[in-house]
Amino acid sequence: METKTIAIAIDGPAGAGKSTIAKRLAAEMQYIYVDTGALYRTVGYAALTAGIDPTDADAVVAMLPSIRVGLAYEDGTQKVLLNDEDVSGCIRTPEASMAASAVSAYPPVRQFLFHLQQDIAATHNVIMDGRDIGTVVLPHAQVKIFLSASAEDRARRRYDEMTAKGMEVRFEDVLADMIQRDYNDSHRAAAPLKPAEDAVMVDTTGNTLEQSVELMKNLIKERLG
Ligand code: DC
Repeated sequence: METKTIAIAIDGPAGAGKSTIAKRLAAEMQYIYVDTGALYRTVGYAALTAGIDPTDADAVVAMLPSIRVGLAYEDGTQKVLLNDEDVSGCIRTPEASMAASAVSAYPPVRQFLFHLQQDIAATHNVIMDGRDIGTVVLPHAQVKIFLSASAEDRARRRYDEMTAKGMEVRFEDVLADMIQRDYNDSHRAAAPLKPAEDAVMVDTTGNTLEQSVELMKNLIKERLG
C-alpha cells in the first residue's frame, strides 16, 4: 500500500532564515528537516580537500564517482556524511560556501544529489530547504514557500551567526559574498534560484525570528487544511 508523505518546500536566497525557521517548524510538526545546501557544501568541501579547484567543472565531475554523500539524523538533527565521516562542522566556512556555489552550477553534481533528496521525501514527511526544491526536486510538494529578505538583512544575520561561533569576519565581506552568491545561484543555467509558479512569496525583512515562524506556521496550516 502506498503511504502518502507530506513535503514542504522552502526555497530562497542565502540568509533569508530558511534553515532556522524550517528547523523550528520541523521540530514542532515532527517532520524531518532536510538542509539541501549542506549536500552541495559537502561536494564543494570534498573538492577543496582533494586539492581540486571548485571552478574546474571537469575535475569536480570526475571526482564524483569516488565520493559518497549521505544524510544521518541524530535526535532530529541532520548530519551530513562524506564517505561516512561527519563533516557537518567543516562545511560552514566561507571557502566551503563559495565552493558549494561553484559546484552547484554543474548539472552532474545536481544529478548526483537528486535521488538522495527525493528518496528521503518519499519515505518521510519533510520540510526541505534549498534553491530548487519547489521547482525541480519536489515539484509536487503540498506547500511551497519562497522566502526572501533584503541582502543587507540576510548578510547581517549570517554575520551574527558567524561571529557568534567565534569566526573572525568583516560585515562588508559577508555582504559581498552574499551578493556574489545570489548572482551565481540565480544566473546559472542548471536549476537557477527562482520561485515555483505556485510558491507563496514571504519577505522576512525586518521580522524577528518569532514573527517569521508564526507567519509560516499559519501559512502551512492554511495550505495543508
Ligand atoms: O543554503 P546554503 O547557503 O547552505 O547553500 C550552499 C550553496 O548550495 C548555495 O550557494 C546554492 C547551492 N544550493 C543549490 O544550488 N541548490 C539547493 N537546493 C541548495 C543549495
